[in-house]
Amino acid sequence: MTDTSPYRALVAHYEACLARHGDTPQGVDWPDAEGAATRYRIMAEVVRERDPVDLLDFGCGAGHFLGYLRQSDLKVRYRGLDLSARFIDLCRRKYPDEGFDCVDVMEHGAAVPEADYIIMNGVFTERCGVAYETMFEAMTRLLAKVFPRARKGIAFNLMSKHVDWERDDLFHVPYDRIGHFVVSQLSRHHLIRADYGLYEYTVYVYKAAA
Ligand SMILES: C[S@@+](CC[C@H](N)C(=O)[O-])C[C@H]1O[C@@H](n2cnc3c(N)ncnc32)[C@H](O)[C@@H]1O
Repeated sequence: MTDTSPYRALVAHYEACLARHGDTPQGVDWPDAEGAATRYRIMAEVVRERDPVDLLDFGCGAGHFLGYLRQSDLKVRYRGLDLSARFIDLCRRKYPDEGFDCVDVMEHGAAVPEADYIIMNGVFTERCGVAYETMFEAMTRLLAKVFPRARKGIAFNLMSKHVDWERDDLFHVPYDRIGHFVVSQLSRHHLIRADYGLYEYTVYVYKAAA
């Protein structure tokens, strides 16, 4: 399996969700609108500054986070990126004035757009039949490519191990394992948040201490 093929499997899954459920939370495979809104709030809270910042929404799906930002009082210069042409076409139709990239950043020569903050909401929560270790390796390679492009920090979410039961189609990662990777490969300035009532957690990784 190549570096990029796990993501192709995931993207095929999300495109099938879009075909089935249309432009809704379920169309990006979030179970409900309330949980999705909670995730957008937690992702937005990675930003430490009150001044406007550049934010890259990596794996932007149908652009629902941009919808959330426009209803909030956050000052963000937004850019979206997704591997799926179907999702990017949809975003460009919905938001013709915003910038969206359809790119596989793991392809040779492809670059991750630079931003103050890069959020990756739902990029690593499901593994859809991809072997666990293949998914872990693909995730860490992608994070190692993305983090240097963030001037201030990144946020991403993973499924918790502290659940009543684990699902084989989801990606449950122990805190210690992701913590070891983050500290040894990205930055020791990180925060793990599991205080928002969902069966997942969000990792903020910063370039500098608070
Ligand atoms: C669960 S959906 C979440 C969409 C959006 N972030 C949201 O929360 O509304 C995950 C998205 O990540 C995209 N994705 C997965 N792997 C990717 C990769 N390696 N590069 C870019 N996009 C990716 C999928 O195409 C899909 O649109």
